Amino acid sequence: MSLRPLFPETRLRRLRYSKVVRNMVAETSLSVDNLIMPLFVCPGENVQNPIKSMPGNNQLSVDMLVKKCGELLESGVKSVLLFGIPESKDEDGTVAAHEHGIVQKATRAIKETYPEMYIIADICNCEYTTHGHCGTIVDGDVDNDQTLVTLAAQAVSLAEAGVDMVAPSDMMDGRIGYMRKALDENCFEKMPIMAYSAKYASGFYGPFRDAADSAPKFGDRSTYQMDPRNSDEAIREVEMDIAEGADIVMVKPAMSYLDVIYRVKNEFNIPVAAYNVSGEFSMVKAAEANDWIDGKRVMMEIMTSIRRAGADIIITYHAKEVADILNGRM
Ligand code: PBG
Repeated sequence: MSLRPLFPETRLRRLRYSKVVRNMVAETSLSVDNLIMPLFVCPGENVQNPIKSMPGNNQLSVDMLVKKCGELLESGVKSVLLFGIPESKDEDGTVAAHEHGIVQKATRAIKETYPEMYIIADICNCEYTTHGHCGTIVDGDVDNDQTLVTLAAQAVSLAEAGVDMVAPSDMMDGRIGYMRKALDENCFEKMPIMAYSAKYASGFYGPFRDAADSAPKFGDRSTYQMDPRNSDEAIREVEMDIAEGADIVMVKPAMSYLDVIYRVKNEFNIPVAAYNVSGEFSMVKAAEANDWIDGKRVMMEIMTSIRRAGADIIITYHAKEVADILNGRM
């Protein structure tokens, strides 16, 4: 027997040869329970308006939205995040707080057919204002404190319509505390708040603004959303939101901000959500359509990376596809 030459002392590959062992030692898990699917609801009946920049996603009228919820439940996706495209808009977005507003209607309809569907309402004014900004404009900019009033009214109105959770995405200072108080005073003390805490002024929201018809008509959102260069500031935002009563904090977008997710998860003992936003979704779909990447594989890798970074919850337009893969249906 001849002696073999120098060996590596450590062979990490030993645990990679068998799929059984790879699964046994996997550090990150992904389940349909982690997923939330965003949906866009619009006026009309039997409307299924394809969103060109987000293949497979549609603006849905209430009846079609209910159908969609049935399909999602079938795949095991138990929660949706609703965005409304209203019939008409106004200066300060108060249409969002009408008893018969589009998301209020959608909520009642979903709950009638699928009471088990967990409904989260995005709370923001940008889909409801004529100018497309997230709040009331005073002297050419969004006024923080006036906007708190309309946001709280929107949250209470949606709570009355039957949503299970509210998710303020406006980035005004003090909105969580203000909204918590408004909800509590209206006997919704059990309603959780998922705060878009570290929400960046991002180019990745482009396709969403087509989907929700919410692009600002002047300027941009950099006076209220966060500067992509900052992460200490994200910690301060999260800290503030927790102190004001947030039950879940969110980092958004996800892929370019995995470091922020990681920091937030390590710094605070609170559930963390990550929003895998429209532009992140559309990039995968575009590259897949060109046969440049294996779309499904990349999608699962992205989901895994967001979980590995520390997110408990992933809000994603891929939710149904991911669920179908996890269920072995795709
Ligand atoms: C509303 C809101 C936006 C998104 C979620 N809520 C748009 C924005 O801030 O411009 C983006 C979601 C996505 O891109 O998927 N404020």
